Amino acid sequence: MIKVSGLTKDYGARRAIDNVSFDAQQGEIVGFLGPNGAGKTTTMRILTGYMPPTDGEAIVAGYDVVEESLEVRKRVGYLPETVPLYNDMIVFDYLKFMGELRRIPNVEDRVEEALDMVGLYDRADGYIGNLSKGMRQRVGLAQALLHRPEVLILDEPTIGLDPSQVVEVRELIKEIGKERTVLLSTHLLNEAQNICDRVLIINKGKIVAEDTTENLQARLLGAERVTLRVRGEAEDLLQTVKKVKGVQSATAREDGAVEFEYSSGRDVRPEVARQVVNAGYDLIELRPIGMSLEEIFLELTGSDAKRK
Ligand SMILES: Nc1ncnc2c1ncn2[C@@H]1O[C@H](COP(=O)(O)OP(=O)(O)O)[C@@H](O)[C@H]1O
Ligand SMILES: [Mg+2]
Repeated sequence: MIKVSGLTKDYGARRAIDNVSFDAQQGEIVGFLGPNGAGKTTTMRILTGYMPPTDGEAIVAGYDVVEESLEVRKRVGYLPETVPLYNDMIVFDYLKFMGELRRIPNVEDRVEEALDMVGLYDRADGYIGNLSKGMRQRVGLAQALLHRPEVLILDEPTIGLDPSQVVEVRELIKEIGKERTVLLSTHLLNEAQNICDRVLIINKGKIVAEDTTENLQARLLGAERVTLRVRGEAEDLLQTVKKVKGVQSATAREDGAVEFEYSSGRDVRPEVARQVVNAGYDLIELRPIGMSLEEIFLELTGSDAKRK
């Protein structure tokens, strides 16, 4: 269980996170989705007891991260952005060493258990330096699982992995997350949608949206966006597009193209094409455009404002 209220962190004059509140329950994988610099790592480091917040409160696994940080650390597994691994150590010995540092009882059994969980049992006797990036990430996960934590905090766990390793690590996290509370950060929308039950979107230190992955997807898929381009002069093109029934909004771009939106239940593209041609234009492009993460933030914050 994680419960965060009003968490704020300043680095000198710079506010890295601002009044962040959310919670996460056992058996839930919560995604922390945001671009670089959004404040994901800062929040996670506070939640693991590594660094105090400037303001606000965080309870992790039942303990306050400031007042009872030792109790928190006993119950939290942390996969940092970059895992410090020693290439010239044997996998098993490294994990045993980490376990001893943390005074874990029956450490060898626990290392075996963790290796088994992450599917690295048959690599236990090899050098860390000989492992692929995906395997090394598994060692990092094994390290985070050694003390059987009830809460797992994973900072961009698939960054730098190749596509097949990404799939493997995602599956592993889903499996591990079944009985724990998992908070995972990512800057990839599809990753959040793939792994998480619920997503918190953070931008510039503030949570701008929070929803189940399903709802988020529905909100983002609710409107289709299209670019339309004609040959030559595009005067009045915007007006022509706007007049078509079912077009929700349309804007003219500087390069002369027009972008418009329509609701996904009702495809207005054929009608738009007809009207544009009827108005005497040479239609040369009618293309759906996906949304970038930036646009998704705008869309989500914009639609929030509209609903209020
Ligand atoms: N140790 C630090 N000192 C000063 N500023 C920092 C430090 N760590 C992070 N920041 C700043 O805080 C903001 C949030 O960073 P971070 O939490 O690392 O974001 P994310 O993990 O989402 O990329 C950024 O503007 C970053 O430059
Ligand atoms: Mg980060």
